Amino acid sequence: MDMEKLVALCRRRGFIFQSSEIYGGINGFWDYGPLGVELKRNIKEAWWQDMVRNPPPGPDGEEIAMVGLDCALIMNPKVWEASGHVGGFSDPMVDCKTEGCKGRFRADQLATSVCPLKPSRAPGQHDKCQLTEPRTFNLMFKTFIGALEDASALAYLRPETAQGIFVNFKNVLDSSRLKLPFGIAQVGKAFRNEINPRNYTFRSREFEQMEIEFFCHPDDSMKWYQYWRDVRIKWYTKLGIKSDNLRPREQGKEELAHYSIGTTDIEYLFPFASEPQELEGVAHRGAYDLTQHQQHSGKDMSYFDEDAWLREKDKYPEAEAAKEAKSKPPYRFLPHVIEPSAGADRFTLAVLCEAYAEEKVGDETRTVMRFHPRLAPIKAAILPLVNKEGMPEIARKLYQDLKRDFNVFYDDKGAVGRRYRRQDEAGTPYCLTVDGQTIQDHTVTIRDRDSLKQERLPLAEVAGKLRELLRP
Ligand code: GAP
Repeated sequence: MDMEKLVALCRRRGFIFQSSEIYGGINGFWDYGPLGVELKRNIKEAWWQDMVRNPPPGPDGEEIAMVGLDCALIMNPKVWEASGHVGGFSDPMVDCKTEGCKGRFRADQLATSVCPLKPSRAPGQHDKCQLTEPRTFNLMFKTFIGALEDASALAYLRPETAQGIFVNFKNVLDSSRLKLPFGIAQVGKAFRNEINPRNYTFRSREFEQMEIEFFCHPDDSMKWYQYWRDVRIKWYTKLGIKSDNLRPREQGKEELAHYSIGTTDIEYLFPFASEPQELEGVAHRGAYDLTQHQQHSGKDMSYFDEDAWLREKDKYPEAEAAKEAKSKPPYRFLPHVIEPSAGADRFTLAVLCEAYAEEKVGDETRTVMRFHPRLAPIKAAILPLVNKEGMPEIARKLYQDLKRDFNVFYDDKGAVGRRYRRQDEAGTPYCLTVDGQTIQDHTVTIRDRDSLKQERLPLAEVAGKLRELLRP
């Protein structure tokens, strides 16, 4: 697949635009157009529905408890000291001193970066390259709160949504009376001052994450780590990503983030890379975050296992011994955390790459975006065959009925074949055409984007049929 063609289609059809394009753009920032915003919303909604409201059953068939959260983008800067981001969230950076270059690169990605000097090579390979020694560069965006721009007003845009969940662990526990194991989920923006944003939206400076922090008993953590790896891979395949293009990859010890005991990256083979690239990380964070926040805030972050206590309290008939026992393991402890952390923009990009196809239909080549129907920005287009003989009136009425429940599109411009092609490019799975026969027998045709097959069905059954076809 040719990435340039996909990028051109995304701009032409309104999936993705460069941010601030009329001013020359701004590196690492992107805007979603009318079709793109629907696609990305559908992705986030599918994730919320399938992971938060109706997660798959646990390893023993049990129901999984899951709740959501929506935290502020800016938090007390002490959060980021405790989490380790102020001290350690950095990448190694090298600069090129050469006039006409002055490039800035990630030291660990030199081999795959492009030197701005012509003929382009990797940085360091050109005769004129003068690379500095690597130095660490903290990726957090800084800002100031209030009128003064001094150290006391310094704050950060969050580089991950996860910390909002950890610092609210007790609030959620106390307000919702959950018992281990349970998950807290959040979808939202994150900001990273990436040294070298690249590969379209793949590495951006502003992006959205879909994260779960799943809290469990330390003894069960490996079981849940395995569960979440499996659940997350299946979710991608269910939404149309071919398993050939997906792979789980266990990170080596040297790659692990400071908080991780083990991480499996779920990787996708993007057309711009020779090796699969990270879509999501499923990390075993142990008790790292709750320990850090407990130490830094001075607040107790522990969990009390009431069920275990009620089962065993008779072992402690003395009041003092009972009090002592209740305050420590196995009854009171810091839970372990399994974190499936996905990028909404990265998955959107993978969905776009996976969907793009060109194929011959008769003498023509059509470009078709084969989105999974649940993710498709427009679910159905309503097309009157001609703009006369009562067809527009019926088509308008159908459109007005359907748009109460579905994102549908009305198109009466040009030959019907060209209208089908426009919907193919937008990835619309179904086209409903009102034709001469509709006037006679109140049926319409429903055309399937992928098979190109057309069936007739009564107008009164259209909404039910769409609902059935779009069901998760
Ligand atoms: N809380 C853990 C965490 O943030 P991460 O691996 O740094 O882990 C999780 O990020 C996911 O967020 C990645 O798998 C990726 O999908 C997305 N992501 C991270 N940095 C990104 C960037 N610069 N641009 C787009 N997406 C990014």
